[in-house]
Amino acid sequence: MSKDNSEIITDIFNYLKFYTEYSGYPLYANEIKNSDSSFDLLNCEVGFPEAKDEVDIPVQERKNVKMEIVNEKPVNKNPQDFAHCDSLDKFNEEIKDCRKCGHLASSRNSLVFGYGNPAAEVVIVGEAPGAEEDKQGRPFVGRAGKLLTDILKAINFEREDVFICNILKCRPPENRNPLPDEIVNCEPYLFKQLELIKPKMILALGAFAGQTLLRSKEPLGKLRGTFHEYKGIKLLVTYHPAALLRNPNWKKPTWEDVKLFRKEFDSMKNQ
Ligand code: URA
Repeated sequence: MSKDNSEIITDIFNYLKFYTEYSGYPLYANEIKNSDSSFDLLNCEVGFPEAKDEVDIPVQERKNVKMEIVNEKPVNKNPQDFAHCDSLDKFNEEIKDCRKCGHLASSRNSLVFGYGNPAAEVVIVGEAPGAEEDKQGRPFVGRAGKLLTDILKAINFEREDVFICNILKCRPPENRNPLPDEIVNCEPYLFKQLELIKPKMILALGAFAGQTLLRSKEPLGKLRGTFHEYKGIKLLVTYHPAALLRNPNWKKPTWEDVKLFRKEFDSMKNQ
């Protein structure tokens, strides 16, 4: 078997795994029946109905809930204010007691800084920690995290290869959406992390991550599918794994997105 064919088989295998796991969503029988070549399978229209947009409220227009900001320990806002932090560890130490959003600081078990390779070429940015992440102090360790691990595996990345973090470092109560003021408070931490890691590529998961990094109000459906740039770093936005758990229709476009991401990563590496 030529190398090309074996690569195609691996791709099909990952595709099948990606589609069928977690959602319990079966592959369509006719898809398998009618495909006598790998290309049929990879290029087929899976028969999913049109994917609808994820909750797509632009950052600035989200419900303006008044929040209590308790600056018990003020923390500087701009990445340049953290100039003395020249490593992720030092930076983590610097912000671990942050109380800029007093209500989140009071309810959290841990500030979830992020986890992974400090010299990663790829950074994955999610929305905010959930209950399990808050408990363990690590990002994406719950159900959505397990799906993220599999998505990464399907495109030949291990979690250890990448750095995973969030827009918000503290869990919003009841996993509600991040509030605009919370994003404003927390985003400098992400910007500093990106400045320290200097990744080659960023994968933004969900509308909050995409809109925050791109300073955009576009809905996720418009942001996904093509590359953008964050300070000269290639950035792709796709659906959040938690959204995929809720709506398996979004798996197909996500699969297309992450394949594109991998292809671009490989071509950058080969340059
Ligand atoms: N969802 C996120 O956006 N981040 C996590 O860390 C976990 C779930």
